[in-house]
Amino acid sequence: MLFGDVSEELARRVVDALRHVTDVEPPSALVRVSARDGIDYQCDLAMSLGKRLGKPPREIAADIVSRLDVADLAEPPEVAGPGFLNFTLRSSWLAERTTALNGDPRLGVAVTPRPRRIAIDYSSPNVAKEMHAGHLRSTVIGDAITRLARFAGHEVIPHNHLGDWGTPFGMLIEHLLDERPSGPYTIGDLNGFYRAARSKFESDDDFAARSRNRVVLLQSGDDETLSLWRRLVGESTRHFTQVYELLGIDLTGRDIYGESFYNPFLAAVVDDLTAAGLTEISDGAVCVFPDGFRNREGDPLPLIVRKRDGGYGYAATDLATLRYWTEQRGVSDLLYIVGTPQAQHFAMVFAVCRAAGWLHDEHRAEHVGFGSVLGEDGRAMKTRAGESVLLSDLLAEAVSHAADVIDGRGDLSPDAREEVAKAIGIGALKYADLSGDRERDYFFSWDRMLSRNGNTSVYLQYANARIRSVLAKAGQDLTGARIVLGHPAERALALALARFPEAIGAATAGHLPHKLCTYLYETAVVFSRFYEQCPVLDAEGPGVRDSRLLLAELTSKTLTLGLSLLGISTPARL
Ligand code: ARG
Repeated sequence: MLFGDVSEELARRVVDALRHVTDVEPPSALVRVSARDGIDYQCDLAMSLGKRLGKPPREIAADIVSRLDVADLAEPPEVAGPGFLNFTLRSSWLAERTTALNGDPRLGVAVTPRPRRIAIDYSSPNVAKEMHAGHLRSTVIGDAITRLARFAGHEVIPHNHLGDWGTPFGMLIEHLLDERPSGPYTIGDLNGFYRAARSKFESDDDFAARSRNRVVLLQSGDDETLSLWRRLVGESTRHFTQVYELLGIDLTGRDIYGESFYNPFLAAVVDDLTAAGLTEISDGAVCVFPDGFRNREGDPLPLIVRKRDGGYGYAATDLATLRYWTEQRGVSDLLYIVGTPQAQHFAMVFAVCRAAGWLHDEHRAEHVGFGSVLGEDGRAMKTRAGESVLLSDLLAEAVSHAADVIDGRGDLSPDAREEVAKAIGIGALKYADLSGDRERDYFFSWDRMLSRNGNTSVYLQYANARIRSVLAKAGQDLTGARIVLGHPAERALALALARFPEAIGAATAGHLPHKLCTYLYETAVVFSRFYEQCPVLDAEGPGVRDSRLLLAELTSKTLTLGLSLLGISTPARL
């Protein structure tokens, strides 16, 4: 076994051994990476079986060890403490494995034997409004999850659930008809229209009435109304596409499935829910009260599927969306990358879809939530004027701050500087969104995210560029060379590099990109310790220089592939 996930392999061997000891079914997740000195992996299976087998866990552990065959990759396992199994990989095996990994483009990560078809909803900004920091976070996290899932071998279909339908469009279109501004509009113009329309809607009854009527015209397919609506959507989409291009995010027009797309399916959603006896009329609105959802007063909570005025809202659209993807597109999994404040909305949508038979046991629907991005004052990020920070400004600022970071490097051509500033600035913004536990809020700080020290993309990009320059200086063909592990710092680095599949597995399975960030950071730190303690270019002894160059090369490949799965580029020179 030279490729694949070492902890999974050890777990398989432990389970095989256990089958000789008892026929009790073992629980999953048996073997974990250990941070203890001299122990690489640990297994607590014996402890979890003690009660069921009525035997002291240490005895069970000893029974397992007597049947366990891991001699090809590990030293004889030890029973420790209350019944842990401790594993230490053989250094000769680690050397062989890392030598082999250097020739594997997947760096040891297996392709899933059970591919799924995953619909992922991410980015999903609103037309005629500028994208904000929350949409950025959804875009960045969604992109990383998409890349990880595709790398694992799943089929992933992104859909950008644009907010392009409903009441706000009545007032926007009515406002356009009043003002007849000449296009093309910038996104700033569109923001302005939105604000002007909103304030007219609130202060002018006649305008409000016309706006409501305009929504009816829109939904009934009136030509003039539709053409104005198309113009708004088109202009906004142009802006969103620019942002995606600058971010290096592969979301295009073909991935747009806006709220309007589901309009033709809404009536059937209400009819079918009603025919199934799931709806109730409450306050004139058609509602479903899914089991288990109550407000603070303990009253059942409604999911409103048709409003009193006959219109459909956000919830109805999400019911139609889910039904479309499971019934018409045959997806097995649905992921929604949306802020945690919408957790209850999605839980209710899933519950209603389950009751309606649009979501079965074999489907997996998951709201992948994330926290807010906070300004230094601990409140949601705002500009000095008190408005939300515009995403386009944020991106431009990231690139200009990054240019400051690389300033003083006279040896880069102006074009190369610009490329590097983009890689650093955009990388830092993305990494800041990805590197913390996604459910938590985090404080936005240019200084922190652009620091060359600590768990930042800049640190990783510099570490990688330094390695690339060492390799370039060596200018050596390493074909046929092998890794040998003499020094403890070499072994520590090889162990870290051998664990790439585990890091990818953990980040992919739980949709937790921060686990990959942590791994990459720790690996870069282990590399810098190795580099301090083990001369590379001036290494002495037969094969030592080659071996160390190979370790350096594998580190660079690991950082590059890892960052690329997070959507972050790694310039060769910084
Ligand atoms: N447009 C929404 C917002 O800006 C997000 C949509 C998320 N996706 C969904 N299927 N509801 O809050």
